[in-house]
This record gives sequence, structure tokens and C-alpha cells, in this order.
Amino acid sequence: MIRYVLTLEDSADFEPWRDMARAALQRAIPPEALDWRIRDGETDLFGQITDNGDGLEALTALPVVKTVTLRASCIALLRDLLCHSDPGRFALAYRIAWRVQGNPHLLDVVTDVDIAKARIMVRQNREDCHKMASFLRFREDPVQRGEGQDARRRFLAWFEPQHHILERIAPFFSKRFTDMDWMILTPRGSIRWDGKEVVYSPEPCERPELDDGFGELWDTYYASTFNPARVRTKAMRREMPGRYWKNLPETRLIPQLVAGAEARVRTMAEQELQPAPAFHERLRARETRLVTQVPDMAETLEGLAAQVRTCTACPLHCPATQAVVGEGPAEARIMVVGEQPGDQEDLAGRPFVGPAGQLLHEALGEAGVERGALYLTNAVKHFRFRLQGRRRIHQNPDAAHVVACRPWLEQEIALIRPKLIVSLGATALRALDGPGMAMSDVRGTSWTVGTGEKAVRRLALAHPSWLLRLGNGAQGGSERRHFGEGLSRLREFLDQPGA
Ligand code: URA
Repeated sequence: MIRYVLTLEDSADFEPWRDMARAALQRAIPPEALDWRIRDGETDLFGQITDNGDGLEALTALPVVKTVTLRASCIALLRDLLCHSDPGRFALAYRIAWRVQGNPHLLDVVTDVDIAKARIMVRQNREDCHKMASFLRFREDPVQRGEGQDARRRFLAWFEPQHHILERIAPFFSKRFTDMDWMILTPRGSIRWDGKEVVYSPEPCERPELDDGFGELWDTYYASTFNPARVRTKAMRREMPGRYWKNLPETRLIPQLVAGAEARVRTMAEQELQPAPAFHERLRARETRLVTQVPDMAETLEGLAAQVRTCTACPLHCPATQAVVGEGPAEARIMVVGEQPGDQEDLAGRPFVGPAGQLLHEALGEAGVERGALYLTNAVKHFRFRLQGRRRIHQNPDAAHVVACRPWLEQEIALIRPKLIVSLGATALRALDGPGMAMSDVRGTSWTVGTGEKAVRRLALAHPSWLLRLGNGAQGGSERRHFGEGLSRLREFLDQPGA
């Protein structure tokens, strides 16, 4: 049997493999007739063949004998599989693509050797991503980019992933660390974020010198969070295998902390109960106290945004990632006020980009209103949530949070001077009109506040999150219709000359 040698780069992912695999499948070349190899510098993995042209050229010179399609689920599996570093991955992926042609249910056969192996490899890739997300430590580069308000801090990290997962994990880091520039170097390439886009390079990197002078501080912090009563060395080793230890600054402390744990627990148990340190009360008080800050009047939306980002007027700023400021043109005639940023808004730093935003966006589109014509903001600028495992579950803000944030909303109104203000949901209604109005009385209605030059139209609509919660039943459908009718008033408003 003629064998065709197909050579790929070690960093190659799905696309280059797919082009070769498609050419072979279209020519009905069975897996046994293909020799998938990895290019390794001048020589291939087995030191025999240096050129990938021959096999592919010979193969593509053959006539195409069939058309080939793969289901989306199969493509997804192969895409995941090809991130693995096993040199046999290309051949395995081809075998699956070949065999699935004759057996469309192959992927469901859990006992099939190829499928079982592929699924294990996919799991290993995911585990590698999880470890990278957990064990990567950024160090600050003292040289900042830009100047003044535009200055951005820069961070560098070194990590040694087992597999080719950089492109997969990049969105995790770019969503988490939006407000700083960073670069992650690895022997399998690098990823870099400059606030706008993530750039991936397959070029292998060398371990850089990483010392930002914070090592001692980190050690002190780590040692103080180490709970001697909860030491489970086996579980610890399972979760943090030895190969990650060398790149984690805290690991040098672990042996001595573990060795001293038993004695520390004994001393703790023998100690008499002691009153909490004085600062504990102060911290508690700070958490519950709402400082009524009277901010300086900003002259521009940018100036206001800079102030909002530093707001500590209520405790919500502590767990939130960042304050989410309003977005839209300074001359917008319509302002839309929501409740507070959700999980995705908190990470992205922009209002209405999550599921509720999506619904709003679609409904605006149906009403013929462009998002870009509106100024979108929230009554409360920080995300309020409670943790459930790793999930951050939305919690309604309290009246006190709304009050603490109101100066920002007032300033937004003063700067934009909208002619129509739309509140979405009860929190925005309360923030704009005080606690006297009930949502059930005013939902879908509009009225005028003030007179003459200062007259502003108000429109109260339901909150898109509430519509999402109602689902697609009868009530959900009718509330969505009312919501759409409400938004079509925005279109009418924008069409009025001089409105
Ligand atoms: N819900 C809101 O009220 N505001 C947002 O920005 C997102 C969801």
C-alpha cells in the first residue's frame, strides 16, 4: 500500500490538520495509508523526513472521489482533541473522521477505543486550562504604558502548560484582567492583551526574570491565609501536582507551613477565647456604613467616569471587579437607566452586554432604535452578588445602595440633559422618582417631569431580566410585547423634530 507522509507543526491546531484531512477523506485514503508526523526543526519527529510537501502533493494529485461532511459535534470534539500534545493526536483525529463517515453514531459509543482515548485527551486539555487559570501568577512590570489617566499597568507571567491550550484559555484571562496590559509566556508560545485584543504567537518563549519586589508581601499574605486546621496534603497534591510547584512563589512555604500545622492547631485549641482585635469592629462598621460622598461636579462624561471608577461610597465596590459607567453619546436625547451591572457587565466594564442587554438590544432593533443613539446607564454602578460555589448570583441592590449612587446618576442627567428618560425596572424607577411610585402602577406609562425648558419626559418600562425570568409562557409573551410597544415610543420620540 502506498503511504503518504503528512507533516504538521507541533503547534498546529485544527485548521491546518482539517485541510489535510479533508484532502485525504475526499480521496478515500484510509487511515492506514497516512503517516502523520510532527515537524521538529530540521527533521521530523522520527528523523527521516524533512518536507511535508511530498505526501500532500502526491495525495492531492489523486482525483476527488467523494464529498465529505462532518457534524458540528464531531468537529467540536476534534478541535478540542487537537489541542493535546500527544504526537499521535493527528492520526487519532483522522481515524475518527474516517470512521464517523460509516457510522454517524460513533461519537456516542463510549466503549470505542478511539472515542474513549479522544475523550480522555479532551479532559486532560480542560484540566490543563483549569490549572493554568488557577496557578498562573502575574508579576508587575514597573514600566507602565501611556501616561496620566491613560497609563496602564503591565504584568508578565510564566506558565508551563502540558498542552496547546493558549488560544483556548486566552478569553478567560482577557475577560478577567481587562484593565491592565499583560503577557503570558510559555514554552508553547505566548498570549498578550493590550486592552483591545488578545494576540497569540506560537513562538516558544524562555522563562523571563520575574521579580516585582512583592515576593515577601505575597509570602506574608499566603502564610496568613493558610489554615493549619484544614491541612489535607493528599488533596493538596492532587489539586496542585508537583510539576506546577516550581513556578508558584508560595510553594516554597508549604513544607514548613504543613510541618508546623499540627502544633499550631494544638496551640489554637489550648488558647483561651480572645476578643477580636480592635480593627475588626472598624472593618464591620465600614462594611455596613454608607458614606454619603458629595462628589465634585464633573465637566465631562469622561471626568465623571473617572470619578465613578474610584467610588467607595458603599460596600459594593469591594467584591465587584469594577464600577460600570454609562455609555453613549454626550448629546443623546434619550437616557435609559437600568438597575445595576450584572456578572458579564462587571467583567467587561460596560452596561447591558449580558443576557438582559442582549434582550434589550434585540427589542430595540425590532423597534427600529439604534443602541448607539441612546445613553445607557444604571441606577447602581457596582454589581451586587452572592457567591454560590464559584457562581456569582445577582442580588437586588438595597435602597441604601441606590441612595449612595444617586449623585452619579444626577450628574449623568445634568451632563447629558436628555429629553426622555426611560427607567427599566423598579430599582431605576425608585432611583429616578423616589420610593413613592409602584412599578405595577406605572409600567408602560409615560409622564412629564418639570416645565418649560426643563421639562423631561419619563417612561417606565419593565426590566429585561424580569422578562427573561418570565420565560416564553403566556405572561412572558405578553410582557415582551408591551416592552416592545414601550420601546417603539423611543422611535417616535426620535422622529419628532426638535424633541
Ligand atoms: N441589568 C441592568 O440593569 N443593567 C445592566 O447593565 C445589565 C443588566
